[in-house]
Amino acid sequence: MEDNLRNRLQMFIGKFTEEMQQHLLHQKPKPGANNLLTDTSLIKWDCKNNEAIINKARKLIWVAHNSNGGKSVEILLKDFDKAYKAITEAEENLYSMADRHIATETVTAKQAALNATIDAFLDKMPKVFDPFAGGGAIPLEAARLGCRTFGNDINPVAHIIQKGSLEFPQKYGKPIIYSKTEFEKLYGKEELIKWCITNGKHADAKDLKIEIANRLSFDVEFYAKKLLSETEKEIGYLYPTDKKGNEPIAYYWARVGTCINPSCKAEIPLLKSFYLANTKSKLVYLNPIIKGKSVTFEIKIGKSPNESWLYRGNLQCPVCGNTTDVNALKQQFLDKKTSERLIAVIEEGKNSKEYRLPKSTEIEILSKVPKMSKDPANQCLLNTLRPYLPVLGVLLNGVIY
Ligand SMILES: C[S@@+](CC[C@H](N)C(=O)[O-])C[C@H]1O[C@@H](n2cnc3c(N)ncnc32)[C@H](O)[C@@H]1O
Repeated sequence: MEDNLRNRLQMFIGKFTEEMQQHLLHQKPKPGANNLLTDTSLIKWDCKNNEAIINKARKLIWVAHNSNGGKSVEILLKDFDKAYKAITEAEENLYSMADRHIATETVTAKQAALNATIDAFLDKMPKVFDPFAGGGAIPLEAARLGCRTFGNDINPVAHIIQKGSLEFPQKYGKPIIYSKTEFEKLYGKEELIKWCITNGKHADAKDLKIEIANRLSFDVEFYAKKLLSETEKEIGYLYPTDKKGNEPIAYYWARVGTCINPSCKAEIPLLKSFYLANTKSKLVYLNPIIKGKSVTFEIKIGKSPNESWLYRGNLQCPVCGNTTDVNALKQQFLDKKTSERLIAVIEEGKNSKEYRLPKSTEIEILSKVPKMSKDPANQCLLNTLRPYLPVLGVLLNGVIY
């Protein structure tokens, strides 16, 4: 790195350790990952929730932003402390109330008082607007530093992510206290008993108050578990645990087309790729075994030596070498003459996913999957990740899955 004022300033702001500065400026050996930044660095991951460090940065911004009003640094810092204290007091005033989720007159007044203190603070901080905010990294950091922040994006997915990472944590990621009646009404008796056991309380205690440190994370966990258990009830039997306790997490299956050559007619799984895992650290692939007209697979580790037999919707038969062109294959789809075959089973291993061939009992299980009462009827988009499906006449999303 060049030794100039800009880079030295960045090192000072980032709080790089002396060893790291020596490395960057004078090509000295690079220190270990834990010794790149000092323990007071705002950008160090371990410091992300350190209020003292974040507040130091907020104070610097506050002073810099308000310094042209003629006030001294000491006065500006006192103003900061006063505005910050007003927020914490208003929060305490609201969050110490039981059942603040019900918008009574008192709750509404206390919420308005809190909003007013936050507004007063933000009025003294810079405004940050990111019109192309994507995942919201810039608004998130600006908001963390106490700025009045706006994010925007044309993409609805980015917008939803921004709501999840910027808006909801600020609105709902706060403490809440429930009365026993309200908690039971919202989460049920079972959850109440669970909370009491975890927190060493008796469910029949007089004036029991259920204190939740973060309403948003509590709700996310509660509803995620509920969704999981409902899903388990509905389709859990399709993922049976074996004697060793292994449980399938996914089934890998393929559509099967028929070779057009009348003397062959082999049934070929229409696989675009033979890889089950294809990452930098893990390569697992299906190795085809051709015996007569039967096409089966074994699972191997490493780089697949085989090219796909499906190219732009044309199938080159691995048995006879004949090509079944895209139109002939499409006709098989339209005539509903294709079938499906379970190719592999993916399990959660000790350290990572594991892959194996299916057992006969699993093939039976899959034939018991109830048909959807109504297929989602929206059209597949052309040029999506599976462009060959529409080419082959699979035009509705409901038919893909
Ligand atoms: C490079 S990303 C933004 C990354 C983001 N600033 C960050 O630091 O993570 C650009 C974003 O601009 C959005 N975008 C593009 N054109 C836009 C427009 N006309 N109006 C609003 N957002 C737009 C895209 O949807 C995309 O999410």
